[in-house]
Amino acid sequence: MKDLLRTEHLAREDVELIFETASKFAENPLYAQSALSGRTVAIYMTKPSTRTRLASESAISHLGGSPIFLRHDDLQIGRGETISDTAKIISQFCSALIIRTFAQAEVDQLGAQASIPVINALTDDDHPTQALADWLTIREKFGSDFSGRKFVYLGDGNNVTHAWLIMGAIMGAHVVAATPAGKYAPQQRVIEIASNIASHNGGKVEVLHDPNAAAQGASVIYTDVWMSMGDPEDERREKEKVLSPFAVTDEIMAGAAKDAIFIHCLPAHRGEEVAANVIDGAQSLVWREAYHRRTTIQAILYHLT
Ligand code: CP
Ligand code: NVA
Repeated sequence: MKDLLRTEHLAREDVELIFETASKFAENPLYAQSALSGRTVAIYMTKPSTRTRLASESAISHLGGSPIFLRHDDLQIGRGETISDTAKIISQFCSALIIRTFAQAEVDQLGAQASIPVINALTDDDHPTQALADWLTIREKFGSDFSGRKFVYLGDGNNVTHAWLIMGAIMGAHVVAATPAGKYAPQQRVIEIASNIASHNGGKVEVLHDPNAAAQGASVIYTDVWMSMGDPEDERREKEKVLSPFAVTDEIMAGAAKDAIFIHCLPAHRGEEVAANVIDGAQSLVWREAYHRRTTIQAILYHLT
């Protein structure tokens, strides 16, 4: 594998290898401190980021390399230079490109045209590095035998939901997305990909519309913001209305398994998609999950560069 462009491109063996290496980086961030020695990695973002940027920059530094952070306006791409020409130039100077942007097609195109590894750090459709951190956190808690367990996402059917369903399928888990029906449900294309992967490795993919029924007996309750970066502001009211039954409250957690954990990719909006009691409570593993953004990105860079 040259790039990490889409969650669905990962095989179970790739994920296991990333987890094994990430666990080493969790124990000792400097485990491979010369891997990128004397080299640079570009991080190009057209959307804001706290975790992914910090995790990526520190991962690169811990591997002995130097990050070069670029916003849209910093590059000539903002003035019409083609993606293809930009890919050629970044490939000449950097050992990898980490990109966060709107269109998945832009990431796919950069992957095809750059000679260096291209890593998707979030698009409107996917968030593969997040899914790796999520499932490493889940595996640390429950081990690798997922049989008899249900892993449930509640809320807006967005990029994080897509990565969640596909990575869950790759892990052979029973993975659920409970979202409103209609335009806030996950993309049909993604449901088909995830179901197809699950059918080959003993997993199960469900998209449901009743949050309480979905949460019943779950080992993991996951949620994300209702308004993603780039979502039209004029949909905010409508989204708040249709998504409010999917908020993760004490009642939702009470219906989950006794040993259930709560995770959230962050940033969180307390009082909207999650109650403060839940995210700041004893079942929440959000800080460990955020910590694994660095260990997993470090592992990806270690194996791809
Ligand atoms: N979870 C996540 O991707 O966070 P940032 O948007 O802060 O990078
Ligand atoms: N769905 C959110 C995830 C943020 C990490 C967004 O795209 O804004």
